[in-house]
Amino acid sequence: MSLADKIVEIGLVPVIKITDPAHAAPLAEALIAADLPVAEVTFRTDCAAEAIKIMSEYKELLLGAGTVITAEQVKAAKEAGATYIISPGFSPEVSKACIAEDLIYFPGVASPRDIQDAMADGWKTLKFFPAEALGGVKTLKAFAAPYPGISFVPTGGINAENVKSYMDLPVVKACGGSWMVPNKLMEEGNFGAITELAKEALTKIK
Ligand code: 3PG
Repeated sequence: MSLADKIVEIGLVPVIKITDPAHAAPLAEALIAADLPVAEVTFRTDCAAEAIKIMSEYKELLLGAGTVITAEQVKAAKEAGATYIISPGFSPEVSKACIAEDLIYFPGVASPRDIQDAMADGWKTLKFFPAEALGGVKTLKAFAAPYPGISFVPTGGINAENVKSYMDLPVVKACGGSWMVPNKLMEEGNFGAITELAKEALTKIK
């Protein structure tokens, strides 16, 4: 099964912002304990690569790097152990770097033009971001018609209440979001509560 298929089978991509490398291992364990072994570790903090390196010890985790906006970050993510790359918007530079590094890329798209640019580089599973702010389910339905064979991972403003409405769309293969991994809980060291949130999220998409 391909990596994209494995993510699709699970259906959720927790979007993570690690502020302290000490959180990386317990977070990986919390997600695995919830049967949600997926992590998009965002390059929004200086310790992102270090956190990815720590989390890469957990071989069952589908470990990706998010908020990747430069070719250098693609290299750093790969060196740290990430197996896929996500960015908020489609970036030709990141796309080329992923092809060169043999990494899967889930580019962010917000418009038909973005979708076509991503398709031109061969990418078929695209992150629709920021989903809620761009019209959510209604916009995705409109995107579906002209692009058969393209699927979406909506992210941005998704939560336990609205995730099912996205997952009910045939073009949606998985949903991303930070609601399962709140920084407040990480800072409190409450990784058990993160496991519970992740489990709850999985029940919502059934
Ligand atoms: C992302 O980069 O994917 C988003 O910041 C996640 O959006 P959310 O915090 O609204 O879930």
